[in-house]
Amino acid sequence: MRSLSNLFNRNREWSKQISTEDPQFFRKLVDQQSPDYLWIGCADSRVPANEIVGLLPGELFVHRNVANVVVHTDLNCLSVLQYAVDVLDVEHVIVCGHYGCGGVQAALQNSRLGLIDNWLRHVQDVMRKHRSRLDELPDDASRLRRLCELNVMEQVLNVGQTSIVQQAWDRGKRLEIHGWIYDLSDGLLKDLSVCVQTAEEYAEVYRQVTEV
Ligand code: CO
Repeated sequence: MRSLSNLFNRNREWSKQISTEDPQFFRKLVDQQSPDYLWIGCADSRVPANEIVGLLPGELFVHRNVANVVVHTDLNCLSVLQYAVDVLDVEHVIVCGHYGCGGVQAALQNSRLGLIDNWLRHVQDVMRKHRSRLDELPDDASRLRRLCELNVMEQVLNVGQTSIVQQAWDRGKRLEIHGWIYDLSDGLLKDLSVCVQTAEEYAEVYRQVTEV
């Protein structure tokens, strides 16, 4: 017997609702996708990419992992980025973190959770890099908020440093990388003002983010 029938019921209702509003909706999506944006976000169930920005299927290319980390040896993330930039020709890469991120918190507290600890070493690298600024903050809650923000900024830099983005800029492709953070408590996004769209801007933002 098939389990999770409630999810299949919900799926049928969802499909019906969309088809009622636009009978051609799914047919149009079969032949092509042409999203304008690549979203790199946290796997957290409370941060559903499409819903937060009110975009429909076909409008947002999405990669999610724990703590929205972009690692230069992660073939999964790099493949998504390369496909989005070179094949789908997206013009915006959005790295979106969120306050109250469990992954960032585990990194901050040096928690022992299992295999995931190895992944979160990348966030601990961010923490160590900004240690003195984090130590100046009054309490753990503000340190967590700040590390969530700094982690996004560092991942924006990591995206900008990939050969994929560097080559796209070299050939004159329009490509902007954005760093945003989502607040679970009110459902609102905040722009962290680290948007980069050229190699020159990248150098400037790199200096801003990394100077301690
Ligand atoms: Co998270």
